[in-house]
Amino acid sequence: MALLKIFVGTMYGGSLDVAEQVQPLFEQAGYTVEVLDQPTLTDLTETRPDLALFVTSTTGSGDVPGNLTGFLNTLSTESPALDWLRYGMIALGDSSYGETYCGAGRHLDERLADLGATRHGERLEIDAMETFMADDAALPWVEAWIPTLPATA
Ligand SMILES: Cc1cc2nc3c(=O)[nH]c(=O)nc-3n(C[C@H](O)[C@H](O)[C@H](O)COP(=O)(O)O)c2cc1C
Repeated sequence: MALLKIFVGTMYGGSLDVAEQVQPLFEQAGYTVEVLDQPTLTDLTETRPDLALFVTSTTGSGDVPGNLTGFLNTLSTESPALDWLRYGMIALGDSSYGETYCGAGRHLDERLADLGATRHGERLEIDAMETFMADDAALPWVEAWIPTLPATA
């Protein structure tokens, strides 16, 4: 079975909740799913997933949540070639923060692209100003996303 790893960046649990809510949709589609709420770079590079999904909120002024900073820092210092990686990106944010809206997801997306990874589909940005429960936006997005994935499952 194809392996999906979901890398979570969260301060208050919203992104982790999204990851746990979408997990069964992937399992029904035939994926083995691991949700990583303390992810390290080796989770990505040692047992390579067939597909990765990043679900991260933004904190501070466009910053990555604390549980994902180690991952991002190691990504920057080690700069591994990620040309094999296909991934999706769900960014949680709040448009009242203006220019730093969804900054963590956008920044991570840029870093992954710099290292050769390929995002599958568009990044989903979930605005807390418009969507009270992030799951309400994430679940239909994932339902629509799964059938567009290459048949690796
Ligand atoms: C202290 C603080 C700083 C935040 N900074 C930003 C920001 O710079 N940009 C943004 O888009 N959202 C920002 N947010 C909004 C969060 O990203 C948003 O509420 C998200 O849904 C939280 O998800 P989580 O529970 O997974 O951490 C901030 C929220 C807090 C409480």
